[in-house]
Amino acid sequence: MSQLPEKVRIVEVGPRDGLQNEKTFVPTAVKVALIDQLQATGIRHIETTSFVSPKWVPQMADNAAVMAGITRRKDVIYSVLVPNTKGYEAAIPTTPTEIEVFGSASEAFSQKNINCSIAESIERFIPVVQAAREAGIYVRGAISCSLGCPYEGDIAPEKVAYVSRLMKHIGVQHVGIADTIGVGTPRKAQAALEAALSVYDIADVSGHFHDTYGQALANIYAVLQLGVSQFDASVAGLGGCPYAKGATGNVATEDVVYMLHGLGIETGIDLDALIDAGAFISQHIGRPNGSRVANAILAKRAG
Ligand code: HMG
Ligand code: MG
Repeated sequence: MSQLPEKVRIVEVGPRDGLQNEKTFVPTAVKVALIDQLQATGIRHIETTSFVSPKWVPQMADNAAVMAGITRRKDVIYSVLVPNTKGYEAAIPTTPTEIEVFGSASEAFSQKNINCSIAESIERFIPVVQAAREAGIYVRGAISCSLGCPYEGDIAPEKVAYVSRLMKHIGVQHVGIADTIGVGTPRKAQAALEAALSVYDIADVSGHFHDTYGQALANIYAVLQLGVSQFDASVAGLGGCPYAKGATGNVATEDVVYMLHGLGIETGIDLDALIDAGAFISQHIGRPNGSRVANAILAKRAG
């Protein structure tokens, strides 16, 4: 227990990773209201939208309108996904705090998700990372399919280390290790994070776990024991990936916050307010709330 961090930073990815897969267009005003509610809970880092092709991901086509609609707080990081120079040029006028390039530990997934090989993706990121660093914009990187791939199956930790090295080499400042399809188990999660930690400092590594197989909290707990203190999570467990069939949402932020607070780890997040935000968006998109904690507390409130 002594190795667990005292504080954890949650990056709320519901507005992007969570909503990107919704078939029915979520009105911009609802996305903006969700982000405003999320920042009122104490969350200080939000993946707000993505600047990708609207033909590939129509749900994020209102990226600039979302960025213009939110009420900015100086202490909140607004992160946006950028796959290439075109995305970067569209993102910059909307003044994100941070950009995120996203690659993959699997060749097949790289092709399906961003239509190029791992090596080509890195080539595409080079001018984006360079421009962002020159402009003083922080650059995160995500590595999809770090624990398993829907097309290639098992992914070796060496692949994670390899892509981490490529990202580090081009100037990406932080790497998020993603279990895109939620197949990982705790030892596998530790091995993938350890691979990233062979390249990046512990302060520059995070975990991104989808909960498809119900392993996400166990994986977070395993990785906390390595000292990792940053995790992505999605309010109400929103989400899925358009290029990973059957993948469910990220681990629910409410569930992560409940577990962390139970472990005596600070998050700065008000769980009750977070549950309200999750209930709000679940109602708007007409989906059952994917957070076990939220459902338990909402039932208790109703009773
Ligand atoms: P492409 O077709 O190879 O790109 O797509 P292209 O350069 O050949 O351009 C084709 C067309 O797309 C052109 O338009 C471009 O202008 C346009 P046309 O001439 O046909 O009208 N285009 C763009 N439009 C808007 N914004 C852009 C952009 N780039 C080109 N940035 C591309 C390559 C990467 C754009 C495409 O494959 C794409 O958008 N993919 C979507 C990827 C995505 O958003 N996936 C989900 C997010 S990743 C994720 O969820 C994983 C993560 O959560 C971690 C995890 O869990 O694993 C982060
Ligand atoms: Mg994801």
